[in-house]
Amino acid sequence: MFPQDFSWGVSSSAYQIEGGWNADGKGPSIWDVYTHTPGTMPADANGDVACDSYNRLDEDLYMLRALRVKSYRFSLSWSRIFPDGTRSSLNQKGVDYYNRLINGLLANKITPMVTIYHWDLPQALQDRGGWENVDMIDIFNDYCDFCFAAFGDRVKLWMTINQPHSIAWLGYGLGTIPPSIKNPGISPYIVAHNLIKAHAKAYHTYDDKYRTSQGGLVSIALNADWIEPKDANVPRDVESADRALQFQLGWFAHPIFKNGDYPDAMKWQISAKSELQDLSESRLPSFTEEEKNYIKGTADMFCINHYTTKVVTFATGKLSPYSYDDDRDVLETEEPDSPTTAYAGQRAVAWGLRRLLNWIKEEYGNPQIYVTENGVPSPFPITIEDTDRIFYYKSYIDEALKAQNLDGVNVKGYMATSLMDSFEWMNGYNFLFGLHHVDFNNPNRPRTPKRSAHYYCQVVKDNGFLTVGHLQLHKLVGLRAPCGSSSISTDCLAKIRSASSVESVSNL
Ligand code: NOJ
Repeated sequence: MFPQDFSWGVSSSAYQIEGGWNADGKGPSIWDVYTHTPGTMPADANGDVACDSYNRLDEDLYMLRALRVKSYRFSLSWSRIFPDGTRSSLNQKGVDYYNRLINGLLANKITPMVTIYHWDLPQALQDRGGWENVDMIDIFNDYCDFCFAAFGDRVKLWMTINQPHSIAWLGYGLGTIPPSIKNPGISPYIVAHNLIKAHAKAYHTYDDKYRTSQGGLVSIALNADWIEPKDANVPRDVESADRALQFQLGWFAHPIFKNGDYPDAMKWQISAKSELQDLSESRLPSFTEEEKNYIKGTADMFCINHYTTKVVTFATGKLSPYSYDDDRDVLETEEPDSPTTAYAGQRAVAWGLRRLLNWIKEEYGNPQIYVTENGVPSPFPITIEDTDRIFYYKSYIDEALKAQNLDGVNVKGYMATSLMDSFEWMNGYNFLFGLHHVDFNNPNRPRTPKRSAHYYCQVVKDNGFLTVGHLQLHKLVGLRAPCGSSSISTDCLAKIRSASSVESVSNL
């Protein structure tokens, strides 16, 4: 079992669930603009309505309460609060929505864990150069300052930015997500530099203006695969695996959790490559001593999003064109012995989570760790048995438990991704991570618990695994009525609410 105060939760993000893309004065984000551009998305999918959570707050609260989770990780839509990205455009109706959500959570004894920015940059700020523009540091700080002031009396767990690695590399390197900039050897490093400084500035704002009165915790949600050396007896493979982790997680975690600066492996690699490329200076920007001191220590807990494990061996990267990918000098492959998932390349490798948690413990001095995302997609259409997802959660949570109980890793919480099926970025609605099914063809967007919701609810109730996990799994999969019968629509909600206590609702 986990410690009594263990924070069981589920996660979501604004653009993936809210819909209401232009409701009540909301401004467009880069995702609105991108998905509205013909030909960009499979089946022209977009987040215009998504799960319609902007209009279905009660349904969301109902699901959360029924799951018995202790916390809910969600994000704020920047352009719903500041339609043009800046304070002068303040949209009170957007603020009201988040107040209703936060108050609803607290009324149900669910702790809000708020991501301030989860990829949906206001388009107006992209028009000013987005994260390549150094002005973003102050602009982001002002937005965070506003959020702390508006919600910080009730929100005590903050994450400034979700997966800065994805923003820098996918958004500005590969260009596979908006703003779709393909400059793989230069822009990601500039963007990451600005993101790290923006995070640090927001952290200091919290320290200077809010910590004494509000007493919350501020961090950043980083993401990492576990990287296993191809042959643990080959030192070069082991070094390569460690270097790959430094390039992915250490890029952000090393400055923030260690010494204010990038990992040595990154500094060395990129400077050596830049020299071979006849550049007068490294493509990796550097921090001044003052900046290092300012950045170091700007997180109160370690928030990690984790999905899969990769296997790595040494391979000399190309010099042209310049690329972060080639700067690493690694060859990455799938972990061949583990089950495949709907996502190509994302095997379900539960033991990788335990190793990653241990690596974080050793590398960053035993911080408090929240697993802020973990989950598996199923392709559309879903099967109601949902055994793959149950297996994934069971095996991954078990490894988190081993890390906590046997290895002494300070794991404080676990957020299953995600509360419900939602807009899965570039995959539209084709890959679905939800514990609840959402019928996207129905204007009421009814939510239906999958078997995995039953299972996760039991894990939360038992604070881990009370008996031999397999027995529970049998009980859940074998004995309960199909959850398809308990679809949640707006109509039946009122009935459920008046007829059921939290206790009975939990028997999903
Ligand atoms: C990470 C992102 O933070 C989240 O929004 C997304 O749903 C998951 N990856 C799954 O791809």
